[in-house]
Amino acid sequence: MESQRIREEFLKFFEKRGHKIVPSSSLLPTDPSVLFTTAGMQQFKQYFLGGESPHGQNVVSCQKCFRTSDIDEVGDESHLTFFEMLGNFSFGGYGKTRAIKLAKEFLDSINIHIDYVTIFGGDEIVPRDEESVEVWQALGFSQENDNLKFCGREDNFWGPTGEEGPCGPTTEIYAKGIEVWNLVFNEYYCDRNKRLTPLRQRGVDTGMGLERLAMISQKKNSVFETNLFSPILKEIFGNDDRAKRIIADHIKGAVFLILEGVLPSNVERGYVLRRVLRRAIRFGKLLNLPQNFLTPIAQKTIEIYGDVYPELKSQENDILAVIQKEEEKFEKTLEAGLKEIKKVPKLTGEIAFRIYETYGFPLELIEEIRKVEDRESFFFMQKKHQEISRAGAEKKFKGGLADQSEKTIKYHTASHLLLAAMRAILGPEIYQKGSNITAERLRFDFNYSQKLSGEQIKKIEDLVNQKINEDIEVEMTEMPKAEALKIAKISFEPAKYGDIVRVYKIGDFSIELCGGPHVKRTGELGHLKITKEESSGAGIRRLRAILE
Ligand code: SER
Repeated sequence: MESQRIREEFLKFFEKRGHKIVPSSSLLPTDPSVLFTTAGMQQFKQYFLGGESPHGQNVVSCQKCFRTSDIDEVGDESHLTFFEMLGNFSFGGYGKTRAIKLAKEFLDSINIHIDYVTIFGGDEIVPRDEESVEVWQALGFSQENDNLKFCGREDNFWGPTGEEGPCGPTTEIYAKGIEVWNLVFNEYYCDRNKRLTPLRQRGVDTGMGLERLAMISQKKNSVFETNLFSPILKEIFGNDDRAKRIIADHIKGAVFLILEGVLPSNVERGYVLRRVLRRAIRFGKLLNLPQNFLTPIAQKTIEIYGDVYPELKSQENDILAVIQKEEEKFEKTLEAGLKEIKKVPKLTGEIAFRIYETYGFPLELIEEIRKVEDRESFFFMQKKHQEISRAGAEKKFKGGLADQSEKTIKYHTASHLLLAAMRAILGPEIYQKGSNITAERLRFDFNYSQKLSGEQIKKIEDLVNQKINEDIEVEMTEMPKAEALKIAKISFEPAKYGDIVRVYKIGDFSIELCGGPHVKRTGELGHLKITKEESSGAGIRRLRAILE
């Protein structure tokens, strides 16, 4: 079955059985303790904890995911960084019995034979999952039949994502020798100290890799032979299969990250993007691929996914430009860096850091080429370097404000209202990508993949003006960064803020980490008018607004 059909069949199957289809959320989650969306359940986390779901109790989705945890395995038959996860979820609706029966019924419906299943066997904290045993036994699975196994915490217990959240025992389904479907029963809350407390409502969170399912359904030996990869691999010449697979996987991941507005950099998400791009470039070198070899691979990726994610097509030129620029940049220093890595008599952490700084080799990439003697000193050097550049940045970095005049301060507060209004109208995943504020106007960049419609602009403008008319007090509190990150939205990488931060709150409408300054009450602002909306790079839009 073609992957597109599998996606549709899955969503339809569960829709017919009382699930609401919910679109994939962004690859960049709002939870600041995780860099990327790694599972379908992330956008529903709060509903497992009792929050009311606007989609009802049972939902189904096909979620874009990005994980670096398996990056070293990429190149084998089934591991990937970017993949799509099919999942059905229930927040206090149905429980284990129905979840297992639905899974079996779906796999039967597309003729997939289950080799065996695994069940949580219990430990001193969480008991063996007897309900799952009973249901699977009734479906013909047992230890005697050699198609039911018990596993421990390592294998059959999942979650939480980030520092805390729902988690629980799992039952996993294997077909053609690989794990295809993970059924998680979110029965516990895991806090920051890794303590478990039972949740009041039962939860079901399942995840099945689309690529793996396609591999089995299409009777292929690896995910790379399915229609989700084979056209890409045709663009990569050479006889080292592992290298080719790594390039294909990494460029696909890079395309999707850039689509969301991530740009190559040396911190956080940008660093991960840089790492996968540069790793792909290095493997390209090993295959003797020509300059700019990444572009046709990225184009093929966009072609394969364009129908499912149409924003890829509208952003194609911007995405390709980012990839090409990074390739050109790294190309210049790649040879020299490789030579240096091989040449130095002893590769200490300090030397590795110098190579990273001079030639742009991410540490992980250096380590693939040669062992680094003491990693600690790499991190020590990095920290020292960051502190020096942060001290410099703090001088320059005044929240994008050109000066501290009365008018500029008003524009600054207006930009907070603007961001909150956009989150209310366009979705909670909107965040600030940059801003520039003068006494004449504000300019604001944010992640969004399409042009805003006139109606959306009007709604945003109206909401800001409503909040101005409500004349709300602007309150400031200082608190430790870790605490602030739990309650407030951030506009920059967490590392850019100091340990004690200021949080600015405008009623319940806006709460942001920010250095200030701001007006005392929103009523001082007058009337906001959005004067222009335009693109500002892949997946980034720019608004200009004035106060009248
Ligand atoms: N959250 C689980 C996983 O990621 C099941 O969806 O595997």
